[in-house]
Amino acid sequence: MRKFVFDCDTGTDDAIAILAAFGTPDIEILGITSVNGNVTENHVSANNLDLCEYLGFDVPVTRGASMPLFSGYHNSLDMTHGTTGLGSVVLPHAQTKQFDPRIASRFLFDMAVKCEGELELFVTGPMTNIALAVIQYPEFSDLIKHIYFMGGAVWGGNVTTTAEFNIWADPEAAHIVFDSGIPMTMVGLDVTLKAIMEKEDVVKLRACHTKAADFAADLLDFMFDRYSRGGEDVIMHDALAVASALCPECMKYTDYFVDVETTGTYTRGHTAADFRGRLGKEPNMACAMELDVPMFRKWLVERISACGKSENH
Ligand code: BDR
Ligand code: CA
Repeated sequence: MRKFVFDCDTGTDDAIAILAAFGTPDIEILGITSVNGNVTENHVSANNLDLCEYLGFDVPVTRGASMPLFSGYHNSLDMTHGTTGLGSVVLPHAQTKQFDPRIASRFLFDMAVKCEGELELFVTGPMTNIALAVIQYPEFSDLIKHIYFMGGAVWGGNVTTTAEFNIWADPEAAHIVFDSGIPMTMVGLDVTLKAIMEKEDVVKLRACHTKAADFAADLLDFMFDRYSRGGEDVIMHDALAVASALCPECMKYTDYFVDVETTGTYTRGHTAADFRGRLGKEPNMACAMELDVPMFRKWLVERISACGKSENH
């Protein structure tokens, strides 16, 4: 059975991505690690803990990095994910579930050792926790089988003209991870901007009458409302990273050498993909470049509909 840790900055679309992972049979989620990003780390961590208790996900939840490695970025002020990270959705506060005492990077390393080279990661926020694990534990990189991450873009950006949020929020961390030798799949804006849900998806989720599907439908309703007020569309950036591991056939991929611009005046956080092969470097990741949108939406609704019914979690 494939084993994963989910590193995230929950986050409306992170939460939906978590549901998709927990709704997938025949995989094991060993834990959720939290990182500063969409909102402050304390909000992210609380969201992950509350979500797990509310939906009965019996896995460790850790706290994690509360700021980027070097840059001054603290948090988005654009309210894409609301003040707490879950938009207008309010989960009951966890009553009995406690945080795992380990900090994220230590937990990641412990799971990597436990899985003896078979651990895979979903990464749907800034890469600070992963970079810290790479820095602190020299064996870590060799123990990770694959990272499926949402971040970057071969073409374009969503914070600046050339930088995507997760990479822009901690470019040095992303540079360290890209350079680590860990096999990776980049799911960037090239595909995620097309992963837009429709109202009919909400109807299908409401028909399930499960806590998980209702929670997802509430998050999607918040996103439809956000879009009607001029905000971001109902985009499933992070669930697409999960899909790249669990429904890989919904995308097409090209191998590139990709590095992160850390010093540019206007381009800090840009993921530079050597699509012309001019640098003469071996590709370090597969980049998702095309998406079958109906296949992805069907997969996502099915996985969330199954969430809470699986025997595996
Ligand atoms: C990424 O940034 C966040 O707003 C989303 O959760 C996603 O991980 C998209 O740029
Ligand atoms: Ca995210």
